[in-house]
Amino acid sequence: MAADAPDTLPVQLVEQPRLQKLKEMFISKFGSAPKFYVRAPGRVNLIGEHIDYCGYAVLPMAIEQDILIAVEPVKTQVVQLANTNSLYLDFSTNVNSIQINKTKPQWHNYFQCGLKGIQEHFGLNNPTGMNCLLDGTIPPSSGLSSSSALVCCAGLVTLRANGKTLSKVELAEICAKSERYIGTEGGGMDQSISFLAEEGTLLSKSKGLDWKRMLRLHDVQTKLGVSLEEMLTIIEEVLHPEPYSTEEICKCLGISLEELRSQILSQNTQDVSIFKLYQRAKHVYSEAARVLEFKKICNEAPANALQLLGELMNQSYISCKEMYECSCPELDRLVDICLQFGAIGSRLTGAGWGGCTVSMVPTDKLNTFLKNVKKAYYQTDVQKLALENNSLFATKPGRGALVFVEA
Ligand code: GLA
Repeated sequence: MAADAPDTLPVQLVEQPRLQKLKEMFISKFGSAPKFYVRAPGRVNLIGEHIDYCGYAVLPMAIEQDILIAVEPVKTQVVQLANTNSLYLDFSTNVNSIQINKTKPQWHNYFQCGLKGIQEHFGLNNPTGMNCLLDGTIPPSSGLSSSSALVCCAGLVTLRANGKTLSKVELAEICAKSERYIGTEGGGMDQSISFLAEEGTLLSKSKGLDWKRMLRLHDVQTKLGVSLEEMLTIIEEVLHPEPYSTEEICKCLGISLEELRSQILSQNTQDVSIFKLYQRAKHVYSEAARVLEFKKICNEAPANALQLLGELMNQSYISCKEMYECSCPELDRLVDICLQFGAIGSRLTGAGWGGCTVSMVPTDKLNTFLKNVKKAYYQTDVQKLALENNSLFATKPGRGALVFVEA
């Protein structure tokens, strides 16, 4: 076994109604019983937004909602996928000819990312085929990473079906990389990444560092050997709040527009003409400091811990909204309503620009909170539709991905 591999739990299916039901559906679909089950949870980020790719720690939490897949390895080299939700159509592919459609990604493409990632990692010449039936409880398109959970689940399914093992860390790295097969890199997210890398590059130059070697804002801090608070002071000294034009950036770095485009800007940012370097860098360094503060409060648990944590979540939201500009009017409204009805802290979570909010609410106020938020926010037809998708729920920290086998 690889050190720290995902757990394999023996279970009595009769005591697990969801697994039992999935098994019955599997038998009626494929005519034989599954050999094992894999589960991977969705997640919500408590604090630390848009700083993981800048090299900083974040505080996500696995939620109880998940992707569960029943699996039977088969002798043919065909993977057959089915979903308990009839909106998601059946799909089958030969394991040696995986095609991932980036233009209009459907659910099976995410499965194929995990499948391909594991196959490539081990250089599998003769990967096994399998029958899979999937059951998902993570509301789709809600910023709770249902697609990442599906990629991770498929990765673990493929690993197990092919009799391989990996540590959780290795699996996570492979699945993060393999999600890019679907073109995640081409999303709005990556534009932000490019912005930030450029910010680091500029900062570096003005501090006498070799800016061509600085890829992330964390690299700049490490090289300068200063605290996050000192980085915030440096930003005030070095960057100006007014947006930078491409001409100004070229002048600062002493490079031509062509060099800026070919060496620094990503494909997505080739045509961007305004760069808010000060605001983006300020968000990243202050958010990184808030994550550390959040962790410290959790460790030390002072009497007013909840108030302090809530305040940090609120500050994070304001920074996301004003400095990183990744909120939107719907998220702003939802955060306001949540705070109004008793949340101690509330903020957008995940990439933003839509998606989801996370609120910290005392247990004794939870029921009234959910009732009031439902009434106040979910009034329009579109929002009501979201409610039917179980978009408003209470959750507590869930456990990570694992395999179930029948005891
Ligand atoms: C997306 C990405 C994460 C993270 C968040 C923003 O969810 O998948 O890695 O960058 O955005 O914090």
